[in-house]
Amino acid sequence: MKIAVLEIVEDWLTQAGTHRQHYGRPLVSLCYAQSLDGSLTLRRGQPTALSGAESARLTHQLRAIHAAILVGVGTVLADDPRLTVRHVSGPDPQPVILDSRLRTPIEAKLIRQHPRPAWIAATEGAEPQKRSALEAAGARVLSLPAGREGRVSLCDLLDRLGEMGIDSLMVEGGAQVISSMLSQGLADQVILTVAPVFLGGLPAVEAGAIGWLRLGEVLYERLGDDLVACGKLNRTDLLSSNRP
Ligand SMILES: NC(=O)c1ccc[n+]([C@@H]2O[C@H](COP(=O)([O-])OP(=O)(O)OC[C@H]3O[C@@H](n4cnc5c(N)ncnc54)[C@H](OP(=O)(O)O)[C@@H]3O)[C@@H](O)[C@H]2O)c1
Repeated sequence: MKIAVLEIVEDWLTQAGTHRQHYGRPLVSLCYAQSLDGSLTLRRGQPTALSGAESARLTHQLRAIHAAILVGVGTVLADDPRLTVRHVSGPDPQPVILDSRLRTPIEAKLIRQHPRPAWIAATEGAEPQKRSALEAAGARVLSLPAGREGRVSLCDLLDRLGEMGIDSLMVEGGAQVISSMLSQGLADQVILTVAPVFLGGLPAVEAGAIGWLRLGEVLYERLGDDLVACGKLNRTDLLSSNRP
């Protein structure tokens, strides 16, 4: 039986091409797992497996229907993820790492083991030596203007990805990236897995990052012991939310 959340996200993604033509940017899906108390992991820098088998499989199905997948360098350093599609058959999305200062280790699985060359979004001021080392290891470094706090400007990155033909982007975390995407009104939809555990750990959304944001077209589905919620974010709500 097909998962309802997957069907609805597939349906949303049929608009991805039109969306890119209209806005020059990919449709952005925020997809992550959290505990009942809203934690992403026990402690920053420490991987914590939260999803059950069914929702982990859904994550791989979602990867397979997005053109690209993005994580922050904090997640690369903590989890060393591959971001490939393994639990189902389907194409691997283009991996993108948000990494202003090029902290990605050249031995990271995304650099050494991924079938596609990783795109690393760095700021224009990143050290040329680090850039050369990562490019020699097979990555492609995208130089982008710095935005808030000297980090990669997400708006510029989305524009660049749009120019590069990416019409859908799955953002898998971690906390700082989720918070930035939400606070800047850049996520179009959310697919959230809630695992039946309490962690009291790293909050998925940083305190004060956003005000009131409500999902529309919400669907809840139980997968194994997990609850998966998906819904759309209204750009107007996002841009007028009570953020700092
Ligand atoms: N439960 C889940 O689904 C899930 C998913 C992913 C990760 N995680 C967990 O989350 C933790 C990592 O989260 P994290 O918050 O430490 O790191 P993160 O969000 O993965 O990466 C944050 C880093 O990205 C870089 N960055 C560049 N431009 C940015 C921008 N515009 N906005 C935000 N970040 C930007 C920054 O480093 P520079 O300033 O050096 O560029 C920043 O420190 C790990 O422990 C991991 O296990 C959980």
